[in-house]
Formats: sequence, structure tokens, C-alpha cells
Amino acid sequence: MHTLMIDDQEKLYMAADILRAGGLVAVPTETVYGLCANALDEHAVSNIYKAKGRPSDNPLIIHIADLEMLQPLVAHIPDSASLLIEHFWPGPLTLIFESTSLVPLSVRGGLSTVAIRFPSHPTMQDLIRMTGLPLAAPSANTSGKPSPTNAKRVFEDLNGKIDAIVDGGLSTVGVESTIVDLTSGTPTILRPGGITQDMLLEVLDTIIMDPALLSVDATTKPKAPGMKYTHYAPNAEVMIYKGDDEKVVEAINAALLQDKAHNIYSGVLCDDETKSLFHSDFIISLGSRHTPCEIAMHLFEALRTFDDLKVQKVYALSFSTEGVGSAIMNRLEKSAGHHIIYV
Ligand code: TXA
Ligand code: MG
Repeated sequence: MHTLMIDDQEKLYMAADILRAGGLVAVPTETVYGLCANALDEHAVSNIYKAKGRPSDNPLIIHIADLEMLQPLVAHIPDSASLLIEHFWPGPLTLIFESTSLVPLSVRGGLSTVAIRFPSHPTMQDLIRMTGLPLAAPSANTSGKPSPTNAKRVFEDLNGKIDAIVDGGLSTVGVESTIVDLTSGTPTILRPGGITQDMLLEVLDTIIMDPALLSVDATTKPKAPGMKYTHYAPNAEVMIYKGDDEKVVEAINAALLQDKAHNIYSGVLCDDETKSLFHSDFIISLGSRHTPCEIAMHLFEALRTFDDLKVQKVYALSFSTEGVGSAIMNRLEKSAGHHIIYV
């Protein structure tokens, strides 16, 4: 299959035509690039799973660009959902509803519920409106790899496997949407993201984190099926160092020295405040620790850059879990396979 690159917004109609005909198109959103198909077309949806190599029990998020599109997809809209919609849509927030039978089971991974998001990215919105279709879209990466925040990374993973890629520059949030489940009593965050728990608490009286997000062992089953899989992993082995700055820098420099002696290429993932303190040829700063949004925006691209550099080991700082930091550390800990070193 030849993958068409669409880098001119005037040609967005081509992407709409492909989607209406049952094809697959990668499209920028404010969080990460998504791999879109008509959510109501089972065959098109099955091709998403194939292109990504995604397990079929891992459901997809349906993207809409108009509140009128919500009604036919969901059995009912709880008051808590209406409040969240009013405050955070369009934006990086996905809500879980009881589904109607209109949504194919394959989109839902066999569940009775469905995940819906109204993205704020104008290109994604335009495309949904041009097709008039709800679009199922997982992140546009090969399953297990870090999500793509630009078109070049989508091309690397999916060239030849999908019909087209719309190049709309960088995704600025950089981590995937916050997922909130409103179907089972207390509103629950299934995946932390750009909309933080504190922001949600300004609107709802209570909201809890899925216990599986907080437990260190793997025995608590996450409620978002996708959260149980190994994820965001570069080829390099990632290790996270926790402790006070000075000790972390010392421990990482010691590890770097050892690696050098064994001809192992190792790199450091850090922030602007510490980047000058490490002895390595492969140092990537995600930005200042005082601007966590910048750190979130650069995280996935940095993990992929280490692969470009053929780095074998990455020593990462532990970033603050304040605000969007909980999403940053959720992704980083997954990319490290929860390999954490306390110093
Ligand atoms: O920001 C985002 O959400 C991006 C962009 C493209 O919109 N999309 C994204 O999709 O991250 P994906 O497929 O990479 O992650 C979807 C997550 C998975 O963890 C999946 O298990 C969960 O959403 N999910 C989908 N439907 C669900 C449901 N009915 N109940 C619980 N979790 C669900
Ligand atoms: Mg994903």
C-alpha cells in the first residue's frame, strides 16, 4: 500500500474521501497523532488493529466534533458527564459511557461501554465534520511504541500500512487524553493525561484514581484494558532514578562511567536544571522542571530520539507528579517497565 502524505490543509478533503471509503488516515490531535477510521465500519476498524498490531481486546476511543454526535453513541449522559463536557470539551478528556448497539463491539473491545472524546485540534475537528462520521482513533504508533507527536514518527511506524498521513505539525499536549469512567459509581480516572485530577475536582465533588494506577504490583487489573500492556517502550532499557537531585546525579554518572568501560551506549533523560551535570554524549532535556507542560510535550519524542541514536540504556530523572506530572510519570514508568532505582 502506498501511504499518501497530506501536508496541505487545502487537501484535507482527500483524507475525508479516504475515510468515507473505509480507509485509514493518521491525523494530528492536540494530544498525540491518532490513526482514524470510520467508527461505525467494522471492517475499517479491524484494519486499525491490524496496522498497529494491537490486541483486539484493547478498545478504541471514538472522536466527535459536535455534541449532537454523542447522543446516538451513548445510552445515557449522566449529570457528571454533562458538567465535564461543559468545562473540558473540546479538549484532552475522554469519557466512558454505556454504549448503544450502534457502536460495533470491535471498537469497544467487546465491552458494554464506549470511550468518547471531542478533540480541540482544528484539523481533526475539520476532518470529522467533513466526513460527518464519528472517527475511532488510537494513537498512530505501532502497538507498544511511544505515541507519535509528529507526522515523521507516524510515517516511521505505519508507512505502507495505512492510506494517508495528515501532517499538521507538533501535538502540543504530548501525552494522551485523560480517561474518566462515569459508569461505575464514583467517577474514576483510568488514565492520567492533560486534564489533571485537580482540574477535574474543580468541577466534580469527588474523583478517584483507578487503584491499578497507584499500585506498584501488577496484580490489580486496570479498568482501561490498554493500561495493562507494556507501552511507550523505546528499544533502549529505561531506568528511572528517584531520590534527591545530588544523589541521583552522582548515581547516574557512576552508571554512565561503568557503561563507557563496557562500550555500552547510554544516555540521560533529564531537565534543564540538571542537564549540565551529567557526563554523557547523549543527554536529552525535556525542558524546565518549572514548566511540566513542556516536559509532557517532549517526552515521547525524546524516547524515540534515543532509538535514533542507538542508545542501549537510558537513565531518567523522576519528574514531579504535580498536575500533568502524574501523566508524565505514568508514561515514563511504563516505558521503563517500572524499573525504578531508589538512591
Ligand atoms: O489522546 C488520546 O486519547 C489519543 C488521541 C489520538 O485521541 N488516543 C489514544 O488512544 O490514546 P489509545 O487507543 O492509544 O488509548 C485508548 C485507551 C486504551 O488504554 C483503552 O484501553 C482505553 O482507552 N479505552 C477505550 N475504550 C474504553 C472503555 N470502554 N473502557 C475503558 N477503557 C477504554
Ligand atoms: Mg496508544
